[in-house]
Amino acid sequence: MKFDLKDRVVAITGGAGLLGIKHAEAVAEIGGLPILIDIRGEEAVKKAKQLEKKYAVSFVGLGADIRREEEIIELRDEILSKHKTIDVLINNAANNPRMDESSQKEWSRLENFTVKAWEDDIAVGLTGAFLCSRIFGGVMAQRGSGVILNVASDLGIIAPDQRIYRQAGLSQEQQPVKPITYSVIKHGLIGLTRYLATYWCEKGIRVNALCPGGIYDGQAEDFVRQLTQLIPMGRMANLDEYKGAIQFLCSDASSYMTGTCLVMDGGRTCW
Ligand SMILES: NC(=O)c1ccc[n+]([C@@H]2O[C@H](COP(=O)([O-])OP(=O)(O)OC[C@H]3O[C@@H](n4cnc5c(N)ncnc54)[C@H](O)[C@@H]3O)[C@@H](O)[C@H]2O)c1
Repeated sequence: MKFDLKDRVVAITGGAGLLGIKHAEAVAEIGGLPILIDIRGEEAVKKAKQLEKKYAVSFVGLGADIRREEEIIELRDEILSKHKTIDVLINNAANNPRMDESSQKEWSRLENFTVKAWEDDIAVGLTGAFLCSRIFGGVMAQRGSGVILNVASDLGIIAPDQRIYRQAGLSQEQQPVKPITYSVIKHGLIGLTRYLATYWCEKGIRVNALCPGGIYDGQAEDFVRQLTQLIPMGRMANLDEYKGAIQFLCSDASSYMTGTCLVMDGGRTCW
């Protein structure tokens, strides 16, 4: 019964994205009410409706920009007036650049990385997570219980191996790299996790981080081959493989766990 979220309201930022939808499914599968929050509001509503049909239980989609404090406050009030409480927050939203997709490859290199790109990424990945934690976590602190789960990455623990993003036919200066903000944000989320876990421990809020490895999502063959060479299990994750971790970390199944990271990366960080 500990893997149970019955009657718990779970706010998921970036809820309309690739993993956000899976987090929502994981929550609903053990009885929780998932609230998909996304800057792409229409997509969040559409995805929630599709999931409702598939699972025949309630899903809620709401539009909000988590960079904007006033929008999160409004969102909190809307959730509280309609659903009475907020039990769990999953800080999942991020600017997620696909290194194999952009036409101009060298923008992400450190020498070219602009202050605007830095600020845009930090605003979503760190400031957004801080604001949601403060505003939604405040509700939990007042009530004396709750869970915050920060979605970090294996790259919150190790540095990116930039060799895997290399593309044939480009000079060294043109080679794409994983941007510096990715490392800084994911390491920062682990710091946020430890800070909040200790700050709010006496208020009954548990705070942990999930560090997922890369998910297979149709990336270029060459990239997949190079990445999987760095992973002892020899493959990327399937989209559904983090659902068990979400259920564990959001429910009382992890009741004696706070301030730490659950690393699920096919073994990458132990090599
Ligand atoms: N996909 C992977 O392989 C992988 C691996 C490790 C960690 N992660 C992490 O998992 C999380 C989800 O990744 P994903 O692959 O689902 O990414 P995604 O890009 O599919 O989803 C991110 C979502 O966040 C939303 N978003 C962006 N800015 C926002 C804002 N200001 N306010 C509200 N919503 C906003 C986007 O609209 C999008 O729906 C991210 O934190 C990512 O870094 C992903």
